[in-house]
Amino acid sequence: MTDIETSILSDHVDARIVTGDLDAAIADRNAIVQLDPDHPGFRDPEYRRRRNQIAQIAMKYHPGDPIPDAPYTDEEHQVWAVIWEALGPAHRQHACAQYLEALERLSFAPDRIPQLREVNEKVQAISGFRLEPVAGLVQPRVFLENLADGVFLCTQYIRHHSTPLYTPEPDVVHEIVGHGVTLACPRLAELNRLFGEAVKKTSSADQLERLSRIYWFTIEFGVLRENGSVKAFGTGLLSSAGELEEMREANLQPLDLESMSEQPYDPTHFQPILFCAASFDEMYQRLRKFLIEW
Ligand SMILES: [Fe+2]
Repeated sequence: MTDIETSILSDHVDARIVTGDLDAAIADRNAIVQLDPDHPGFRDPEYRRRRNQIAQIAMKYHPGDPIPDAPYTDEEHQVWAVIWEALGPAHRQHACAQYLEALERLSFAPDRIPQLREVNEKVQAISGFRLEPVAGLVQPRVFLENLADGVFLCTQYIRHHSTPLYTPEPDVVHEIVGHGVTLACPRLAELNRLFGEAVKKTSSADQLERLSRIYWFTIEFGVLRENGSVKAFGTGLLSSAGELEEMREANLQPLDLESMSEQPYDPTHFQPILFCAASFDEMYQRLRKFLIEW
């Protein structure tokens, strides 16, 4: 992996590194998941044990098999409930219509973390996309190329219960509430697939970085106008009530895929610049054409 490939998408959403040596990792169970000392779960041995257990599900997973259920605790289901309560009004106010329709189709319980297996069954029936568990971060190219085959690599653990509205890394809430729902919208699922196909045609790190930025400013942080209001269709916005609230403060740029591809971003802060399409149709048509012609 080049320096440029490691530097892009190294954020709370898409830079996932999968450990290569399953036997060594299982032999030293505590070493599978490394948390930084400032991670909210660093001093919680129970949480770390469960993170390792969930990582093992992914490491032993064979594509196409049913995804084993993750052993979430009552405390963790409570984390989902807190997030869900905050997201309800935020979604009603800031989510685009296509997202809200897809959300209905998945009908999540307000007080229980959905298992990837259940979400996967519904998403697959709607768009053909398949969720596959990964232990942690994988390389951006691997993540993006899998989209071409209709595979979304998905983390399964949930953030630590001490910080229900904050996570330093992508967790199952972002994956399910963000990506799972948008993949249950056939046109957004198609765009994800086209991103994967464009990345597969790309050999240079520079071109990969350009596509990654466009992915970031559309699939992850895209906004559009709907009946005069700015609404979100990006997964990073839609999986966080805080991001949806901050969206109103952003400097909105017109949808320009070329300048988007040059626009750097900092994943560790709320996004100060967002690109806003005139409508869902405009976003879909222009992005689709751009990716097909890539
Ligand atoms: Fe994401």
